[in-house]
Amino acid sequence: MPRLFSFDDFATGSEKVRSYADKHSPVIICESEAERNKPFRVKVKIGKSVKHPNAKDHHYEYIQLWNLETLIGEVKLQRASFGDDPVHIEADFTFIPKVSLRLTALAYCNKHGLWRSEEVFVKVDGE
Ligand SMILES: [Fe+2]
Repeated sequence: MPRLFSFDDFATGSEKVRSYADKHSPVIICESEAERNKPFRVKVKIGKSVKHPNAKDHHYEYIQLWNLETLIGEVKLQRASFGDDPVHIEADFTFIPKVSLRLTALAYCNKHGLWRSEEVFVKVDGE
């Protein structure tokens, strides 16, 4: 079982440690309410404020979006598509919610492992 990191694991560390955690943490960006059976858009951004390297030996390989234990979708990343400079990689997901959501994003850095976002609750109208 791989270790699963989050920003909170490093929140009490030094500024350098918190910067390390920040640039690895996926952040879910979406509305807090959705309409049942209507397309709902969610953006996942890597790094709250600090950009992550995008070098050949150090980059992100994929971003996943989960609703509890159900995988909603996965974006596999081609490193070269985002250049060679540090970057906030983003992935957009659009899906049809039927019940309220407890969303979590996972993202994999090839050098520093698997990172999870904070959980985001989305109330779906009409339940
Ligand atoms: Fe990394």
